[in-house]
Amino acid sequence: MPSPTARDRFLDLLRAALRDGTLVKLTLGKYRGTDGTLKNLFVRPVTLKTGPHFAFLWRHATRDITKNHPLGQALRELEPLVGGDFLDAHLFTATQTAQFESQPDGTARLKIVQAAAPPASQPGTHDRPKSHVIAADAPWLRALGVTNDRGQPREGMADKFRQIQKFAELLTHLLADANLPTDRVVEIADMGSGKGYLTFALAALLGERARIHGIEARPELVELCNRVAASHGMASRLSFTAGKIDSGEMGNPLDVLIALHACDTATDDALARGIAAGAQLLVVAPCCQKELRPQLTAPPVLLDALRHGIFQERQAEFVTDALRAQLLEWAGYRTKVFEFISTEHTAKNLMIAAIKTSAPGTPDNETAQRLRAFADFYGITHQRLATHLGFPLPASGRAAGGNPLSSHG
Ligand SMILES: C[S@@+](CC[C@H](N)C(=O)[O-])C[C@H]1O[C@@H](n2cnc3c(N)ncnc32)[C@H](O)[C@@H]1O
Repeated sequence: MPSPTARDRFLDLLRAALRDGTLVKLTLGKYRGTDGTLKNLFVRPVTLKTGPHFAFLWRHATRDITKNHPLGQALRELEPLVGGDFLDAHLFTATQTAQFESQPDGTARLKIVQAAAPPASQPGTHDRPKSHVIAADAPWLRALGVTNDRGQPREGMADKFRQIQKFAELLTHLLADANLPTDRVVEIADMGSGKGYLTFALAALLGERARIHGIEARPELVELCNRVAASHGMASRLSFTAGKIDSGEMGNPLDVLIALHACDTATDDALARGIAAGAQLLVVAPCCQKELRPQLTAPPVLLDALRHGIFQERQAEFVTDALRAQLLEWAGYRTKVFEFISTEHTAKNLMIAAIKTSAPGTPDNETAQRLRAFADFYGITHQRLATHLGFPLPASGRAAGGNPLSSHG
């Protein structure tokens, strides 16, 4: 069997990008057809009332013409144009750029580079329907019960749908920032993967570039996710096993560690495993920060304010996640903490993302001192991630003489 040509390989990437919902933009150039005024064709995904489509913007010398096509028709239109009427084709997905360049004599070359994606919008379009990072009509979204047959969120799933899109968008940027391997597939673990919404989103975003493994305590969810992955042709790069975050089978090497809404100290267990494996990128969305609450003390000036349970709860969240962020810095990761989706859509919206910057064994003392002062201020003597990392916290309560909050709760 002859090996695939540059054009075959480009068309494979194009089909996958359109089907998986990872297309950001396709640009066709060097027109050599019979229309004397046509210059370029730009294609981008759009969501219309009738569902997901692809907007074709035909750029002529003095005007633009836009037409929207559903998936099948878009592919039928595009395939003969690549290397046909248009000699050049540039495909931008969320994670890579593929440049196909051909000559009138039929010779062609294909260059694939990892690149930050350009903005999804095109100049010259006025009515811009909303585009999604993950195609709203992705069959796995339907199989997981997020969308209906028309590619719209099912009742009660609109927030989840938005969360999936926002997560995919954020991960696009974080993955581009991290120093990930380019000579092999990127190995990713998702700890506490639940129903797999975000695990599947990552698989759709990265396509063949990544192998993703979900670890989940509930076997029935593992079974569901493996079934959906198999029935949508994703099983070779997306699998799930039943297990605990602190001990489940994780794979080696590990490049990216995800743990979203893993309760309380399960987030620490996940972070510790990612750090131990030398992962380049760690992304967690903590929740149920209970561990530190019984230890927290406050200076006298805060005691009245902290009589209210809700403030104690928020303080526990803040102290826990701030401590985690500082521990990650100490362990050699550049750390960002941010809200990843508006609180209007979910209360569990804090994300900690950490990108590896230094080699293991180079902890910095200044960070360690500040970290200990912070822990000391709040009377923290033990915390799960600190224990995992072997970071020594102050041995006894708050040096500044604060009072335990529990007596005022
Ligand atoms: C709130 S759900 C989040 C699911 C998914 N990560 C998401 O954000 O959509 C938390 C999941 O983590 C699992 N989980 C919690 N602690 C775990 C542990 N220690 N080991 C394995 N799974 C755990 C739970 O069974 C649950 O399915």
